[in-house]
Amino acid sequence: MSLLDDVEKVLISEAEIKERVVTLAAEMNAIYTDDDLPILICILKGAFLFLADFTRHLTFRHELDFMEISSYGRGTTSTGTVRILLDLASDVQGRNVIIVEDIVDTGNTLTYILRNFAARRPASIRVATLLSKPSRRQVEVPLDFVGFEVPDEFVIGYGLDFAEQYRNLPFIGVLKPEVYQNF
Ligand code: PRP
Repeated sequence: MSLLDDVEKVLISEAEIKERVVTLAAEMNAIYTDDDLPILICILKGAFLFLADFTRHLTFRHELDFMEISSYGRGTTSTGTVRILLDLASDVQGRNVIIVEDIVDTGNTLTYILRNFAARRPASIRVATLLSKPSRRQVEVPLDFVGFEVPDEFVIGYGLDFAEQYRNLPFIGVLKPEVYQNF
């Protein structure tokens, strides 16, 4: 059985992601200048591929840092518990911060992140997310850059996992229900 046999359908193709990453980067290039010297915070693990592609299309000077947050454990639904597994190396006080997420679903993780960052007193904070699932939102969150809105389906690939697998798929796909129902 190949990894691809677990995919019900491709929701967003590799080519569509590539094209959108470029236009999203152009939106950000229109806002920031070298003087802003923003720091992009990649929220691991899901955002690693998005950040890697996105950063290569940004034309202003910027820095990168990484933070690992986990809220889902190995299941398909949020446990409601958000934990910092790896904290930033940088001090972001007085800095222009851009949070980079792979997906905003209920909004609970991002709410936690934004509260946590507020305490670090950045000069500004914006959020970029590749995907947003508005139908699942439990708490409203400010999203400044959104790649795609997706329906309420179990999405995997391009960084997004199920049970830590499928992150390497180059597209955003929908997982066959029998895969997670039998887990
Ligand atoms: C995912 C995703 C977001 C969060 C969104 O992370 O990367 O951080 O869930 O869900 P929410 O809006 O319902 O809070 P996950 O905990 O699966 O960790 P991962 O990125 O390491 O896969």
